[in-house]
Amino acid sequence: MADDITRLDGKVAWVTGSGRGMGRGHAIVLAERGADIVVHDVLEDEAAETVAAVKKLGRRVFVSHADVSDVAAVKKTADDAIAALGRIDILVNNAGIGQHKPLEEISEADFDRMFDIHVKGSFFCGQAVMPGMKERRWGKIINIASIWAMTGAGINKASHYCAAKAALLGLTKAWAKELAPFNIHVNAVSPGGVLTEMPIKIQGWDMIREKEKKVPLGRWAKPEEVSYTVAFLASRESDFITGQMISPNGGETIVGF
Ligand SMILES: NC(=O)c1ccc[n+]([C@@H]2O[C@H](COP(=O)([O-])OP(=O)(O)OC[C@H]3O[C@@H](n4cnc5c(N)ncnc54)[C@H](O)[C@@H]3O)[C@@H](O)[C@H]2O)c1
Repeated sequence: MADDITRLDGKVAWVTGSGRGMGRGHAIVLAERGADIVVHDVLEDEAAETVAAVKKLGRRVFVSHADVSDVAAVKKTADDAIAALGRIDILVNNAGIGQHKPLEEISEADFDRMFDIHVKGSFFCGQAVMPGMKERRWGKIINIASIWAMTGAGINKASHYCAAKAALLGLTKAWAKELAPFNIHVNAVSPGGVLTEMPIKIQGWDMIREKEKKVPLGRWAKPEEVSYTVAFLASRESDFITGQMISPNGGETIVGF
């Protein structure tokens, strides 16, 4: 068979927030393409379900329940995962939280939690995998941002979330330049609305149905539709792409008539 550059055989992928939602989708799609997986989520039962799904595909798994905002715990996750699986080649910074509040009601604690998980968490997961990636001169880092990094949240009012996701886009570009000499590619994925627990719990079905009328494709994404973009950016198919952002959003950001 010809060399299939979509395959990830022999690679190890660390997916934060992979207990449910999109993170579970990323873990399963990357495993389907041959990668062993570091399943990482504070939700232990949900993480166990992802572990079972990945094992069913015949892949090796390491599991962590660390909080991504705890720098020491993140470093330990990376060290233990590397001891168990040998290496980490792909990092998907996916763990995230949502919170909808008007600007005046966002407390310092709300703000710090938002940045601690999305920005600090992603930053130190990246730092923890860097030595091995540099040594092997190969790495793929995918930061999950959001369409709201570009558009703001509008009626949903989540300016601290939007700011944290926009910070991830800046981080993506800075790392892409700094790490290009080591053949480490860093890109961002900014999904539009994706049907997971997060919007179902926080926005509710009425809002979801209302918003899908404004999406040219007329619906929200299924989690795995974002995972296919992640898998592309994790594979050799994207070897000349770095510092970029792809937004699977059903056409939501098309402007003009
Ligand atoms: N669903 C959407 O419409 C949408 C759109 C754009 C971007 N996103 C982003 O995509 C990512 C995945 O979102 P989702 O919709 O699958 O949400 P989700 O709530 O279903 O999944 C997020 C996962 O991250 C885990 N997590 C949260 N905080 C953590 C922490 N401190 N340490 C470790 N794990 C933690 C959660 O336990 C959960 O399993 C998030 O970064 C989110 O902001 C979601």
